[in-house]
Amino acid sequence: MVRHFLKDDDITPAEQRAILELTAQLRNRRYLEQPLLGPKAVAFITDKPTLRTQASFAIGIAELGGFPLMVDGNLAQIGVRESVADTTRVLDRMVSAIVWRTFADERIEEMAAVSKVPVINALTDGYHPCQILADLATIAQHLGGVRALPGKVLTYLGDGANNMANSYLLGGATAGMHVQIACPAEYEPDPAIVARAADIAATTGGSVAVLHDPRQGVAGADVVATDTWVSMGTEAEAAERKAILAPYQLNSELLAGARQDALVLHCLPAYRGSEITAAVIDGPQSVVFDEAENRLHAQKALMVWLLANQNTAVPTL
Ligand code: CP
Repeated sequence: MVRHFLKDDDITPAEQRAILELTAQLRNRRYLEQPLLGPKAVAFITDKPTLRTQASFAIGIAELGGFPLMVDGNLAQIGVRESVADTTRVLDRMVSAIVWRTFADERIEEMAAVSKVPVINALTDGYHPCQILADLATIAQHLGGVRALPGKVLTYLGDGANNMANSYLLGGATAGMHVQIACPAEYEPDPAIVARAADIAATTGGSVAVLHDPRQGVAGADVVATDTWVSMGTEAEAAERKAILAPYQLNSELLAGARQDALVLHCLPAYRGSEITAAVIDGPQSVVFDEAENRLHAQKALMVWLLANQNTAVPTL
């Protein structure tokens, strides 16, 4: 059975640490690892808009010595022109890994079930695990290294039911962090994901909490993160979502309740004046462009690790 990275908890805490340590090394020495020399190809398929994800994977695959095969999902029409399974059986004969940004998680799970090469989730409706690896790398970069992650308080403000909230819960708990989701009752995380994150946190010394009061959420936080209020696929509800989420805007007044040196994260693209103010995202506590750059280093580390460990047993956490 081949290892894949579809969700943040597909890797153990020790495996996540190893990937984050390698991320820091690759930030300093971009060409340290060359597992794709040949060049071997990695397919990057996207069914949704993207800037950071396609740029960081294309450049990362090339820096690892490989060839990035960029596939426009609108042309491939996976599941319409051809089944997910047949698409996978064609690609996995030609590439060393498949990276896919798509809609329902069932689509990428179907791909992983038949693929003979590792499949990486580049964002689905349910999860954005590569982004969380980059976020953890950014926190480690600024707050004392990978070993300093356990025990840090990370508060995510806003839509608690989206893929970023889910991935913060699972990825943050895996890192041993205290993850707080401050969100309205209308947009809470799936209780099953909260329960899974709590189980992981019980083994790593972290914790998870879902709160409704944004001030309580940020109080004492080491890291405050937010994301767009209108995720891909929810555009029709934009006006209603903005009204409900308004109290969770990350502004200077709210940020003042966090630690004085708290980091501000946003996976981008950001909508200044909606989920975050210009003063905060462009202010001294914001590390959002380090976070964007770390997509490159973290995904390279993930690919190096996954290519080397693709035939190892899938751990039961
Ligand atoms: N953060 C992120 O995934 O950016 P893109 O949607 O531009 O890839």
